Amino acid sequence: MVEVPALFFFVLAASSMAAAAIHLGPPALYVLGDSTLDVGNNNYLPGADVRRANRRYYGIDFPGFPAGRFSNGYNTADFVANTMGFVSSPPPYLSLRQASSNSGQRHLLATTALTTGNAGRCIPLSRQVQYFNATRAVMVSTVGSSKATTMLSRSVFLMGVGSNDLFVFGFAEPARNRSSAEQQSDGAELLANLISNYSATITELYSMGARKFAVINVGPVGCVPIFRRLDAAGQCDAVLNQLAAAFDDALRSLLAGLAERLPGLAYSLGDYFALAQDTFANPLVLGFTDIAAACCGSGRLLAEADCMPNSTLCANRGQHVFWDRYHPSQRACFLTALAFYVGPAKYTTPINFKQLALSS
Ligand SMILES: *[C@@H]1O[C@H](CO)[C@@H](O)[C@H](O)[C@H]1NC(C)=O
Ligand SMILES: *[C@@H]1O[C@H](CO)[C@@H](O)[C@H](O)[C@H]1NC(C)=O
Ligand SMILES: *[C@@H]1O[C@H](CO)[C@@H](O)[C@H](O)[C@H]1NC(C)=O
Ligand SMILES: *[C@@H]1O[C@H](CO)[C@@H](O)[C@H](O)[C@H]1NC(C)=O
Repeated sequence: MVEVPALFFFVLAASSMAAAAIHLGPPALYVLGDSTLDVGNNNYLPGADVRRANRRYYGIDFPGFPAGRFSNGYNTADFVANTMGFVSSPPPYLSLRQASSNSGQRHLLATTALTTGNAGRCIPLSRQVQYFNATRAVMVSTVGSSKATTMLSRSVFLMGVGSNDLFVFGFAEPARNRSSAEQQSDGAELLANLISNYSATITELYSMGARKFAVINVGPVGCVPIFRRLDAAGQCDAVLNQLAAAFDDALRSLLAGLAERLPGLAYSLGDYFALAQDTFANPLVLGFTDIAAACCGSGRLLAEADCMPNSTLCANRGQHVFWDRYHPSQRACFLTALAFYVGPAKYTTPINFKQLALSS
């Protein structure tokens, strides 16, 4: 498995699984998430401050690069779509809007902050919900309310948000020079806001007909190269990781609670935190030789600047967990999607993505 190039898998699975998907798989996949799941909305956001993946070396392993993904190739949303039997990932929502063709049924909404943290530089989750509502309205007027309801109830809603908000916090908080007690209370307040926002979002989507949620939790964000670079020994930022773990605990309880309260709601929670920790602990098992440095960037751990056309590029992209100073490499994304779809039970609660996708 380790030696199979991700792209190869993508093509193979697309042709062998597409037929099954017609009868068994979900009719559609909707993605609401942050830059790790974005397949190109960032290209359509106005403003000079928007982080974009529209230049070299993004997509260096993607056919026809750069492809708007913060990866050297495909990202986790692509591989989840593929494992679920879709021939390709849903197109970026904003690209469809611009082409004013709203009939596609698998829009991808991505790049987000749950709260106002990255205001103006991404699409807040609340706006992603509005986009979905608009998409749903078109669907209802096209196929009728009852068919739309059936389709939506069988569709999968892939969500992964929160890490942007923790990043923003991770940078802002030390600069504020507050006592550790104050930092703790700031962290607690942030988590409470994030979870209440997540809860409101899932509840709204449910009220619009969504029933199946594939949720990816927040990884150990303190271990991304940009934070390791700040540590003299290149270690992870333990405070940020604790915050991420606390967020993930709250998210687990939230989903369990929502499933009890909202009839028919089904979910699979992918434990990216645990998967990443296991990967960092035993990288060679998965064929990774570098868990700390970016593959594209400059300076220490190639994490002192974003990935740009004049960046240094590592020699072994498939052996790096991280592609740029924030985002995982294509191969890490592939292994993540696979772990959540059919991987060891310890990485998904209470069922895996495959069981969710195939459930009726
Ligand atoms: C999430 O938080 C933002 C800003 O804090 C707010 O504007 C938005 O309405 C919230 N979303 C939901 C669904 O509650
Ligand atoms: C969704 O759109 C409908 C109109 O199509 C509107 O009445 C409703 O308030 C919207 N819901 C949300 C949560 O935005
Ligand atoms: C941070 O706060 C301490 C006292 O709480 C003060 O001595 C120090 O100068 C402050 N540092 C900065 C960079 O503001
Ligand atoms: C790369 O180019 C940017 C301007 O586009 C410049 O600011 C930066 O210093 C350059 N980095 C290196 C490593 O040469």
